[in-house]
Amino acid sequence: IDKYAVFGNPIKQSKSPTIHSAFASQCGQSIQYRAVRVEEGDFERAARAFFKEGGHGLNVTVPFKQDAFKLADRLSERARRAGAVNTLTLAEDGTIDGDNTDGIGIVRDMIANLGWMVQGMRVLIIGAGGAVRGVLEPLLRERPKALLIVNRTAARAEQLATEFSDLGPVEGGGYDCIGSRQFDLVINASSAGLAGEVPDLPADLLTEHSCCYDMVYGNDPTPFMRWAAQQAAWAVADGLGMLVEQAAESFYVWRRQRPETQSVITELRVGME
Ligand code: ATR
Repeated sequence: IDKYAVFGNPIKQSKSPTIHSAFASQCGQSIQYRAVRVEEGDFERAARAFFKEGGHGLNVTVPFKQDAFKLADRLSERARRAGAVNTLTLAEDGTIDGDNTDGIGIVRDMIANLGWMVQGMRVLIIGAGGAVRGVLEPLLRERPKALLIVNRTAARAEQLATEFSDLGPVEGGGYDCIGSRQFDLVINASSAGLAGEVPDLPADLLTEHSCCYDMVYGNDPTPFMRWAAQQAAWAVADGLGMLVEQAAESFYVWRRQRPETQSVITELRVGME
C-alpha cells in the first residue's frame, strides 16, 4: 500500500486524510494517508525518515512550506515562484521533487467550482504573506485586467508586485492605494480575520457584480465574508474549495488521476454544520 502523509503543526484539525481517502476510494485506489504533527525544527529529519521508510508523497502545511522548499532536490516552476512547497514526491531515483498546488487550487475553485471569471477582471488581494506569494503566479496566468495587492505593511505588497511584474499588470502598496477604485474580484489573504478583525476597506469598493473570496474557511462565515455580504457582493465564498482543489492537484501529481471534487466539498461542508 502506497504511503502518504501531511506534516504540519498544528495538525489535529487537518481535513487532508479525509479528502485523500475520498479521492482514493473514488478512483478505486488503495492508499494510506496520515496526518502527522511535526515539532518545529524537526521537519527535515522527519521528512527524510518518512521517505526512507517507504513514503511516496508528503503534503506540507503551516509552518513548514519553506522548509519543504529547501528540502526538495527539484522544484516545479510554480513552487519556485511561490517560494514554498506543499507537495513532496519521491522520484524513482530516490531524489525528492517539490511542487506547490495552492495557487492552482484557488484558481480552479473560483473558475470551475464557483463559475467566477478572473480573465479581464480587476482583482484586489488583501494581505502579502506566504499565502499570497503562493497564489500569484496561477492568478496572473489567468490574465486579469489589473491586480492590486494591498497590505498593512505596504513594503511587503510592493515587494511582491515587483517580483511578479513579469507575469502581468500587478501593483502593490498600502490600503490607501485602493483610493476610489472598484474591483470585480476581492480575495482576502490577510490573517486579520483570525483575530475577528476586518480590514478597513472603502465602502464603495465593490460593484453589484463583485465576487469576494476568503482563503480561510470555518464553520461560520468569516469577518471578511460578513463584510462582503453587508456590501451586497454578488457572490461570497470561503477557502474550503481551495483546500479540496489543492489536494486534488497533489493527488494528480502522485497518482496521475484527477478525482472529482464537488462531492468531496459538499461532504465536508455537511460534516462541518
Ligand atoms: P500567511 O502564510 O497566511 O500568508 P503570513 O505570511 O504571516 O501568513 O501573512 C499574514 C498576512 O496577514 C500579512 O499580510 C499580514 O500583514 P503584515 O504583512 O502587515 O503583517 C496580515 N495581517 C495579519 N494580522 C493583521 C491585522 N490585524 N490587520 C491587517 N493585516 C493583518
